[in-house]
Amino acid sequence: MKKMEQLYEGKAKKVYATDDPNLVIVDYKDDATAFNGLKKGTIQDKGIINNRVTNHLMKMLETKGIPTHFVEEISDRETIVKKVTIVPIEVIVRNIAAGSLSKRLGIPEGTKLAKTVLEYSYKDDALGDPMINDYHVFAMELATPEELSLIADYSFKINDLLTDYLKDLNIELIDFKLEYGKTADGTIVLADEISPDTCRFWDTVTHEKLDKDRFRRDMGNVEDAYQEIMKRLLGE
Ligand code: TMP
Repeated sequence: MKKMEQLYEGKAKKVYATDDPNLVIVDYKDDATAFNGLKKGTIQDKGIINNRVTNHLMKMLETKGIPTHFVEEISDRETIVKKVTIVPIEVIVRNIAAGSLSKRLGIPEGTKLAKTVLEYSYKDDALGDPMINDYHVFAMELATPEELSLIADYSFKINDLLTDYLKDLNIELIDFKLEYGKTADGTIVLADEISPDTCRFWDTVTHEKLDKDRFRRDMGNVEDAYQEIMKRLLGE
C-alpha cells in the first residue's frame, strides 16, 4: 500500500490517497479546536489515542453487525479506511442531558433523558453545522428516506452497543456524534471517528469528565483524560 497525495485536511485529521482507488489513509493530528474552530490548541498524543480508540471501537462494532469504513491500522496515527463520500449530516445521540442540549432546553447537565434523543446537523463549517430535521435532509437531498432510516437504525444500535461496552469499563456514555459515508457501490458505512473528541465520557462513579469538554471548558488535565480512556479501552 503506497501513501500518495493529500486529498483533504480537516481540523483533526488529514486524508491521503493510496495506490488503491477504493482506499485512503487517515492521519490523526494532535490539533484540537472547539466552537467551530474559534478555540484552537494542541492535546499531546491525541492523534495517537483517537486513532487507536476509534479503531478499537469500530472493530468491536463490526463484530456486532455495524458496517464501518475501517480496514487496517498501519501506525500509531495512521489507518487505512474505505474511500467514501461523507453524508453531510452529523448524527448526535444523547442519553444524558449535556452541552448544547442543556443550554438550548434548560435541562441541567447530568439529567437522564426519559428517551434517547437523536439529532441531525448539516455538516457545513461556514454555517456552523446548524441543527436540521428529516424534512431538511430530504428537501436538501442530503440522503434518501431509505438511507436516513438506515442511518438512524445504525445509530441507535451503536448507542446500545457502546453503552453496554463502556459500562463494564466504568465509563458512562453521555452523548456522541457519528458520521456516515457512502462507498463507491452505494453502501452506507460508519465513518469518521469515535473518540474523546466526539463523545462525552464520564466516569460512572465520580462523574469526572474524561473527554474533550476538559479542553472546551478549560478544565485542565486534558491529556490525562484522553490517556485514561485509552487505558480503560486498550489496557495501556
Ligand atoms: P453538543 O452538546 O455540543 O451539541 O455536542 C454533542 C456531542 O457531539 C458531544 O459528544 C460532542 C460531539 N460533537 C462533535 O463531535 N463535534 C462537534 O462539532 C460538536 C459541536 C459536538
